[in-house]
Amino acid sequence: MLVLGIESSCDETAAAVVRDGREILSSVISSQVETHQRYGGVVPEIASREHLDKIVPVVGEALMRAGVSYAKIDGIAVTTGPGLVGSLLVGVSYAKAMAYALSKPLVGINHIEGHVYSVVFDNPPVEYPAFALIVSGGHTNLFYVPEPGRYKVLARTRDDAAGEAFDKVAKMLGLGYPGGPAIERLAREGDARAVRFSVPRMGDGRPDFSFSGLKTAVARHVRESGIKPLAAADDEASQSIKDVAAGFQDVVIRSLIGTTERLAEEYAPRTLIVAGGVACNQALRDAASAAARRISVPAYFPSRHLSTDNAAMIAAAGTIKLQAGERAGFDLNADVSMRLQNFEVEDEALRHNRVRYRL
Ligand code: KG4
Ligand code: ZN
Repeated sequence: MLVLGIESSCDETAAAVVRDGREILSSVISSQVETHQRYGGVVPEIASREHLDKIVPVVGEALMRAGVSYAKIDGIAVTTGPGLVGSLLVGVSYAKAMAYALSKPLVGINHIEGHVYSVVFDNPPVEYPAFALIVSGGHTNLFYVPEPGRYKVLARTRDDAAGEAFDKVAKMLGLGYPGGPAIERLAREGDARAVRFSVPRMGDGRPDFSFSGLKTAVARHVRESGIKPLAAADDEASQSIKDVAAGFQDVVIRSLIGTTERLAEEYAPRTLIVAGGVACNQALRDAASAAARRISVPAYFPSRHLSTDNAAMIAAAGTIKLQAGERAGFDLNADVSMRLQNFEVEDEALRHNRVRYRL
């Protein structure tokens, strides 16, 4: 089965052709990073205009590189949310028009579920129940996945996403956008013990994440220690900036992995999936792998080019749905705040696998 995936939820216009949900024939990503860099973040209005310019050539290029004609495609999968409405609408409208003109089946995909599927290409098959820690610029969620396509949120961020915190702290330090890669690079030369920020905990005892207090703590430290942000992103950073980067990154990772490991001890998953843009971070990968070893489960990561937004993951998620007979109508629409939680059971029933989940 050949599936064309289309992704335009944020600032990447992407299209991919995937065979049987596992083999990438082509994956084309047109990034708008340079356009948004000078604003220090994604400007929604500009993003949607750029998607409009790019969608036709990007889809055409994906088919050409795959050596596949429009007629040979068996189905189209498109991101419907969550994301920026103007950006999502470009992909959704284009996919609908294509599906109509070519009489091809169409499915809408949740972007976060796409990130979960990004691990299918370079890893052994996922064993269920699985844990999926999805950390990106827009989302930070830990899901319990009893079987493919079923999700229950065990922990979520109460405020900023982890990637958003990387971007904001990077901006504070004058490191440019996106912030994650710059912070990771400097953190390698910094001493995380030189500046200790504390791991946020929820007052109500829930295992949720929170990163906005950490961001404020970093801002306060930068101000009170008189740390000067870089004038240009490629200037040489001082040791104190490197130490802040290391201290901040360390707390984000300890918060994400500490919670994941603690909950894994209770829920006994058989695979740990870590995906999303922040999963590019090697220190996060190392910490997740170490935690997975301690609880004796394999940890699966996407290869780096599939960690950030791409359409191959959307095509992979779409393949499963198309094979299951799912079809979207032409009323398919963007859903800005689309959720990925489709079953509710008492936590107690899931813990320790004492009782099999009931759907
Ligand atoms: O998944 P993604 O491409 O887009 C969203 O769905 O949000 O994630 C982008 C995010 C940005 O916030 C970026 O700073 C972060 O991923 N990121 C990183 C690294 N590379 C990208 N964060 C930490 N370390 C990295 N190496
Ligand atoms: Zn994403």
